[in-house]
Amino acid sequence: AADAGAAALLVVNNTEGPVHGTLGDADAGVIPVAGLDPADGDALFDAAGTPATLELLGEATVDTSRNVLAQTSTGRTDNVVVVGAHLDAVYAGISDNGTGSAALLETALRLGAAPEVNNAIRFAWWGAEELGLHGSTQYVRSLDAEQQLDIALYLNLDMIGSPNPGYFVYDGDGSDGSSEPGPHGSAQIERALVDHLAAQGIEAEGTAFDGRSDYREFVAVGIPAGGLFTGAEGEMTEEQAAKWGGTAGDAYDPHYHQPEDDLDNVDRRALLVNARTAAHVATAYGLSTREVNG
Ligand code: PHE
Ligand code: ZN
Ligand code: ZN
Ligand code: ZN
Repeated sequence: AADAGAAALLVVNNTEGPVHGTLGDADAGVIPVAGLDPADGDALFDAAGTPATLELLGEATVDTSRNVLAQTSTGRTDNVVVVGAHLDAVYAGISDNGTGSAALLETALRLGAAPEVNNAIRFAWWGAEELGLHGSTQYVRSLDAEQQLDIALYLNLDMIGSPNPGYFVYDGDGSDGSSEPGPHGSAQIERALVDHLAAQGIEAEGTAFDGRSDYREFVAVGIPAGGLFTGAEGEMTEEQAAKWGGTAGDAYDPHYHQPEDDLDNVDRRALLVNARTAAHVATAYGLSTREVNG
């Protein structure tokens, strides 16, 4: 079932630099992801928000940390949509980054192993982000040039349910002036995310696309990328509080990188809205087939 957000996706056309697969417009529609569809209400809250136990696994090092990857058995493997979130944390890490990890897991589980996608979807839970983006960096560097070219885009989820949430999309087109434009295609990913948030009544803002999370190495090798963010140590302005609700003058996440980043430190509406947006955009690109690179 196509919806308003799907039509807003645009062609990712790598005409400059190396060609990273092809993405079409998403007029083919969107695979409904149960519970992540607005019509399904708040199912994600139960799925992602109430784990029975929380086990701290002890201190990870770069050597002991692991990435976890999963990929649909369906879809082209030379035009892969990669979606990622870091699994490691400073303390319990619920806002940073249980939110992104949970949204990613829920999307993967509800999509299933063999959805009818045209492009394979690869899910990545990164290790050792907090120690210096190690998991994602090593992963990208582990791929040869051909394997890197088989990645159509990378979508990053790092902090998507901050307790005083901003609704930020990485500034892929450089329009904010806070960072350089991303690889060709990043602007269209930004627009797709902004449009899907707008379809849910949320006016997003850009945020610096400066390499402060796991998209950094993807961008460094020229892969179009984008992502969602609800804010960390920055303070919400009066204008933002007026349009998003929340508390002006407070940090988006007052417990960022603190022991108090526990299960109470999540805005569940923000998590749901962003999980829906990510699931939608990832599956829409998974369905896009129009060849744009000739
Ligand atoms: N990568 C940061 C962390 O894990 C969070 C962050 C994401 C900050 C995106 C800015 C932009 O602590
Ligand atoms: Zn962090
Ligand atoms: Zn993080
Ligand atoms: Zn922008």
